[in-house]
Amino acid sequence: MSRPTGQNPGINNRNSPGKVFLIGAGPGDIELLTLKAVRVLALADVILLDELVNPAVLDFVKESAEIVKVGKRGGRKSTEQDEIHHLMIAFARAGRCVARVKGGDPFIFGRGGEEIEALKQAGIAVEVVSGVTAGIAVPASVGIPLSHRDHAHSVVFVTGHNKPDGEQPNWRALAESGSTLVIYMGLTNLAFIAEKLIESGLSSTTSACVIENGTLAEQRSVVAPLIQLVQKAKELEFRSPAIIVIGEVVGLAGDSEALVPEVAGDSMMVETRR
Ligand SMILES: C[S@@+](CC[C@H](N)C(=O)[O-])C[C@H]1O[C@@H](n2cnc3c(N)ncnc32)[C@H](O)[C@@H]1O
Repeated sequence: MSRPTGQNPGINNRNSPGKVFLIGAGPGDIELLTLKAVRVLALADVILLDELVNPAVLDFVKESAEIVKVGKRGGRKSTEQDEIHHLMIAFARAGRCVARVKGGDPFIFGRGGEEIEALKQAGIAVEVVSGVTAGIAVPASVGIPLSHRDHAHSVVFVTGHNKPDGEQPNWRALAESGSTLVIYMGLTNLAFIAEKLIESGLSSTTSACVIENGTLAEQRSVVAPLIQLVQKAKELEFRSPAIIVIGEVVGLAGDSEALVPEVAGDSMMVETRR
């Protein structure tokens, strides 16, 4: 059967009562919101908004939509995950079309898997609207191609959020993989991560980069050999949200015309003009 609009047949242009859409809003730049996200946002009766989502997404919702912020920015306490499940289920059971809007992509370190499970268990219809994950768009915004025929044949997304005394990624496998490593939520643990990778055989001079607030006007980044990255990030007082990229491809950063590099010692501070 033909689909002349190219749209997923599950989403029509009418409201979808009692259904939840898990929407990825991309890493920040509002222009990275997908057309599909815009269309579904306009249908929703309730918007559950995560903390890293650009509030400009609200420009696309209907006037009568109820907005519920479930993030912890601005001094508010973060809403517990169970409470978010409860809200989604309660709104959907009340027959409302719910847009659960998350930063980046819902299935990349976004707890989308848990939310789908909770909704399915409750018998609620759910659909995922993929978003552009920070691990792809943020490096791209400073001119880092994650894969490159001459430099990296694979890419690994890693969470840096593990407690040093908790469950760990396989550092040796990562160090030996030759892959570009893209680390989410790793800024606080950067010293530990760098130490583990170097201890596991990754060269301490491997190019590495921290990018803060990627794709947004206030974006900053610093490039340095891995061994120096912690110190540089500390000196420049980098804060979350930040993506860390480690691998040869980082050496290609700065080729983009959008960048204004300022060489400082062994590192390169880059500010993006947007
Ligand atoms: C809980 S994870 C969510 C990731 C999200 N689901 C995605 O696909 O991008 C949050 C982490 O994503 C990264 N992140 C999200 N937005 C970012 C941005 N604009 N610049 C840099 N890092 C970002 C940071 O590592 C941050 O700590």
